[in-house]
Amino acid sequence: MWISCHAVTILFLSHFDVLFAEVFETHLRGPGFVMEPPGRVEFSNSSGGWLDCSASGSPQPTIDWVHADSTTVTEIHGVRRVLRNGTMVLLPFPAAAYHQDVHNTIYRCVASNSVGRVVSRDVQVRAVVAQAYKVDVEVLSASRGCTAILRCVVPTFVKELVRVVSWVHEPAIYIYPSLQGDGKFHLLPTGELLIHNLQETDESQSFRCRSMHRLTRQVVVSSPTRLRINSHRGIISPSIVEHTAHVQVSQDEGAVLLCVAQGCPSPEYSWYTHNGPGPLPVLSGPRIRLLGPILAIEAVTGEDSGVYKCTASNVGGEASAELRLSVATPIQVEIQPNVLSVHMGGTAEFRCLVTSNGSPVGMQNILWYKDGRQLPSSGRIEDTLIVARVSRENRGMYQCVVRRPEGDTFQATAELQLGECTIEVKNKTK
Ligand SMILES: *[C@@H]1O[C@H](CO)[C@@H](O)[C@H](O)[C@H]1NC(C)=O
Ligand SMILES: *[C@@H]1O[C@H](CO)[C@@H](O)[C@H](O)[C@H]1NC(C)=O
Repeated sequence: MWISCHAVTILFLSHFDVLFAEVFETHLRGPGFVMEPPGRVEFSNSSGGWLDCSASGSPQPTIDWVHADSTTVTEIHGVRRVLRNGTMVLLPFPAAAYHQDVHNTIYRCVASNSVGRVVSRDVQVRAVVAQAYKVDVEVLSASRGCTAILRCVVPTFVKELVRVVSWVHEPAIYIYPSLQGDGKFHLLPTGELLIHNLQETDESQSFRCRSMHRLTRQVVVSSPTRLRINSHRGIISPSIVEHTAHVQVSQDEGAVLLCVAQGCPSPEYSWYTHNGPGPLPVLSGPRIRLLGPILAIEAVTGEDSGVYKCTASNVGGEASAELRLSVATPIQVEIQPNVLSVHMGGTAEFRCLVTSNGSPVGMQNILWYKDGRQLPSSGRIEDTLIVARVSRENRGMYQCVVRRPEGDTFQATAELQLGECTIEVKNKTK
């Protein structure tokens, strides 16, 4: 007895998923990532860095690394190695061996076997050459009875990688950052030291700031700076001397917004959100703490994103600054179905589901890949990929890749198998 493929399809359409999964179960499996490298890797020239990548499948997939333009990553003696287990190693290097296209670039991991190929998300690699730097103390304001603001000045070329870890009140009192601020000293999370209620006894006390480089862990300490108190007794209207203009955090992390004003008497701070039709005062709550110049929000969600305003005021006047909080919500990408068997000449349909916290996310920039190569956008209806008149060349691994404006990529994989009609007929007639 002979039944055409077409007839079989119609016959079993209602049991599509179950039937095809049973009949076309084979020992071959396309590659899937077990360990996908992270989206960002930063390291110093002295430590070097490594990127792990592993995949499973049958036969066991091989791992390669490619550049953003899909060319293969090669070994460079003493600089870059690709280990047999898939790990890529960027070796420690002297400053002179820095190469933009090795040390500050995008890599992707590729897993392949006889079934097909899949590419990982983009890995943005950034190596930083350790450079000597100095930090200095700057005293922004120090009026009797008011609050002194001491700043640790870090050169701009390393500012982003260096943070203030503590201040030393000479000879040996260490002050650490805190979100509490009731004492005489308050080290803000951004590194400024506040000294409240300045008195004659504070005159000529010395302070040093200690900073640490995030990648090299190098600690740099300033020379001690004496506090000179300005005996000016009049009113100084507030001016904002520091604020966190744009704070970017991931969902569920804590966010600290900060706005420091100098002025005498010491300014009072108010915080507002601009997320509604008009400014609304920010109120303390279980997740929200207001502490003068600090607005701390715990376990942020996408709804906390937006524009905030801080206002510092005293009898002399007021000053304000705008701040923006961006909360990156994680997204999950999935292809349905993730294994699909279609007979020759049939139609395959994959759908890319993009969700965040369980809800669908619309308007994503979706790209489809087949065996590691981007497909032309023809045949793509929004989040659905349709492969018509399936032939042998269409077998393999499909991927849906979502690229966010910040540069992060997310991907999911699915396998398209070619069904054998004859097996199906035999099973049915038994
Ligand atoms: C590969 O081997 C290196 C060195 O033996 C090890 O550090 C690394 O973790 C391994 N990678 C994976 C993906 O197992
Ligand atoms: C990294 O660069 C610094 C500054 O040029 C240099 O002193 C250090 O030796 C380098 N590290 C290595 C492992 O070459």
